[in-house]
Amino acid sequence: GGMTMVHAGDADPIVIAHRGASGYRPEHTLMAYRMGIEMGADYIEPDLVMTKDGKLVARHDVYLSDSTNVADHPEFADRRREIRGKTDWWVFDFTLSELRTLKARQARPTRGTDYDGVEVVPTIEEIFALVESERGDSQVGLYIEMKHPLDYKAMGLDPTPALLEVFRHAQGSGIPVYFQCFSGDYLVEVAPHTSAPLIWLIEGAEDPSTGRYRLDVPLDKYGNIIAGIGPYKQLLMDGDGKSTGVLEEAHRLGYKVHPWTFRADQVGDGFADMEAELDAYWSLGIDGAFSDHADVALRSRDAF
Ligand code: G3P
Ligand code: CA
Repeated sequence: GGMTMVHAGDADPIVIAHRGASGYRPEHTLMAYRMGIEMGADYIEPDLVMTKDGKLVARHDVYLSDSTNVADHPEFADRRREIRGKTDWWVFDFTLSELRTLKARQARPTRGTDYDGVEVVPTIEEIFALVESERGDSQVGLYIEMKHPLDYKAMGLDPTPALLEVFRHAQGSGIPVYFQCFSGDYLVEVAPHTSAPLIWLIEGAEDPSTGRYRLDVPLDKYGNIIAGIGPYKQLLMDGDGKSTGVLEEAHRLGYKVHPWTFRADQVGDGFADMEAELDAYWSLGIDGAFSDHADVALRSRDAF
């Protein structure tokens, strides 16, 4: 604890600016990422989806209505369609140039809308350019998630070539990179082609009797293909603040453990605030945390 030096990413618990400084700016915009870098986050987190023409852009969702003003564009009114019971505009129905006519907006109804309509949906190349121009002496890295790669492949849109280009770019410019995915099978697929540490995201399953999430997969399923896991935070800690044992098991397997998501405006049950919540997780021994409020997380980490 008590770290004040620049973090190279791995020596100490890392703070990942989740979707950028998304507690303060519309998520996955360059201004949100810039703010995360300025705060001193060790990593900023882009979630990646693909356009119709195969370009990687930063969005959490493959539908566009929550995080853009697509609904205000009459020229796209007939682009709306139903997929798996949800009627919306889908990013893979838009070319990059079409997508770029939209503006990003606050996706969470409880957060401020002051910065809505200002920025476009960024490409991964723009995010690299931002990191290269803003990182200064810091070692800020990219903690990249690919969303739904197997669904994309099933659609005939394979994200792998573009992702391998991303890894090459990171290596060439000395930007630390993690690659995370909910599909461990996809991590297995990319593993032979990259030296980026791979993080398997695990949501777990809700226990109907308690309403809490618990581990529902064998932690060692992907052996030493992965460098660590990114679990939903409830998988690590019981409602009474005690370890579930998942963190210890992960550490026995040699895995880093980077839980999500710590939000100052949505604190876990039983905690007074996000700092108290994070303190409990630093005490448990996590190796990093995804937070919408990286400034608060860094303060908590550095004070620990
Ligand atoms: O990638 C870690 C965390 O972000 C996973 O959840 O839904 O916010 O991408 P999500
Ligand atoms: Ca994510």
